[in-house]
Amino acid sequence: MRVLFVCLGNICRSPAAESVMRTLAARAAPHVALTVDSAGTAAYHVGEPPDRRMCAAAARRGYDLSGLRARSVEPQDFEIFDLILAMDRQNLRTLEQRAPATARARLGLFLAYAPDVGFSEVPDPYYGGENGFEQVLDLIETAARGLCAALNTTTGPARIPRAG
Ligand code: 4NP
Repeated sequence: MRVLFVCLGNICRSPAAESVMRTLAARAAPHVALTVDSAGTAAYHVGEPPDRRMCAAAARRGYDLSGLRARSVEPQDFEIFDLILAMDRQNLRTLEQRAPATARARLGLFLAYAPDVGFSEVPDPYYGGENGFEQVLDLIETAARGLCAALNTTTGPARIPRAG
């Protein structure tokens, strides 16, 4: 199972999702052969490490983002990945527009795996305060647990649940 997390810049939300999912899946779904990656729909920050505020907030919870580098979504991602999960609707729309007709990846919102959090999108923390990064991590941790649970079912996450 190959999962790609997508946000705008690939320096805040999606690298955090990548790292959290990698860490939690190793504990909660150790028998699932899982590849996780992340990318941005915009190319402003390509090659850069994640935002230092995101790195610091993630490190306080035990997630190491320091080795990650931003990249943008590429056409072949739609062939390589089984699931491409966007952080918000704007990025999901961009993915839908860019997906080739032959795409094998299923597209959806990451928070579809966190139906009880009261949010269907992970808010963009880039221009906000420190608290935004904690909120992003709370949402991502909940959705990552939900995705692990879906991966652990015999059929896997065949359908992406509807986001509220
Ligand atoms: P991300 O956050 O999409 O979660 O990585 C952002 C990063 C950079 C910008 C916007 C959002 N930006 O406008 O540069």
